[in-house]
Amino acid sequence: MTNELQKEIIQLKEEKNAIILAHNYQPKEIQEIADFLGDSLELCNKAAEVEDRDIIVFCGVDFMAETAYMLNPDKKVLIPDIDAECPMAHMLTGEQVREAKAKYPDAAVCLYVNSLGEAKAESDILCTSGNVKKVVASIEQDTILFGPDTNLGEFVQPFTDKKIIPIPGDGHCYVHKLFHKEDIEDARKKYPGVDILIHPESNKEVQELADYVLSTGGMLAHVKNSPNKEFVIGTEVDMITRLKSECPDKTYYPLLEGAICGTMKLHTLEKVRDCLINEEPKVIVPEDIAKKSIAAVERMLEASK
Ligand code: 13P
Ligand code: SF4
Repeated sequence: MTNELQKEIIQLKEEKNAIILAHNYQPKEIQEIADFLGDSLELCNKAAEVEDRDIIVFCGVDFMAETAYMLNPDKKVLIPDIDAECPMAHMLTGEQVREAKAKYPDAAVCLYVNSLGEAKAESDILCTSGNVKKVVASIEQDTILFGPDTNLGEFVQPFTDKKIIPIPGDGHCYVHKLFHKEDIEDARKKYPGVDILIHPESNKEVQELADYVLSTGGMLAHVKNSPNKEFVIGTEVDMITRLKSECPDKTYYPLLEGAICGTMKLHTLEKVRDCLINEEPKVIVPEDIAKKSIAAVERMLEASK
């Protein structure tokens, strides 16, 4: 049922010709008022086709909203809480990418979309966990500098003959790092025969013990297409909110109840309403960075078709 605040937001959204894009990790009350929910790739694709709107409200973390801005520099891109940053994205600077490029001048640079604008500006192509295999396959060079997520780099290596070299910096997601192989072993005992789905930001030994390694969009597609009725979900806990709303007849068990991305939860209905009223805080990427990064964003979207 829609509450008063949610009704107010829906009305404001119409008055201001705005669209609300939200990541699968957003809390339930925000998922309920979003026009579009998705994983990082789906959100990028959606942000690339919102010509008819004046305002994009992005309920996700900084790098996602920045990519939406790069695709729509003439629109207002708002983020309800400006402090909603992805710590992993801040683990790789533009300088670190430049240093790696100097060491491997013939290598291509493929960055996870969870990266800062200044790093993206140094890259040839971006990827998400939903398209990383296709993106890597689209790269001509035999050597690929990859960052910031070392786990995603390790995940994709067996699917390609190219050499993936992690850009030094030990980039990782603190939420997915919480999963240990004991959690998988416990889940197997507790839920025998139930599929265990894990996100590729998790450690390698955890990925190896799970049944499927999938982006959040991949998890939803898997659940929809599976004849099975129960699933263990190895990612941020609000993914289960999305799964429950799309496939309510199935049962989901979190691999870890405490897998919560704190900055994703900074957005609240009050902040969504206020940002629509005030048209602030705005997400802006400096023009030189946006210009340098957009080619890498567009190459990624092309490669993942
Ligand atoms: P997805 O693209 O799979 O939604 O992942 C984004 C993310 O930040 C996961 O932590
Ligand atoms: Fe970043 Fe991890 Fe949060 Fe995803 S879950 S936004 S990678 S901190």
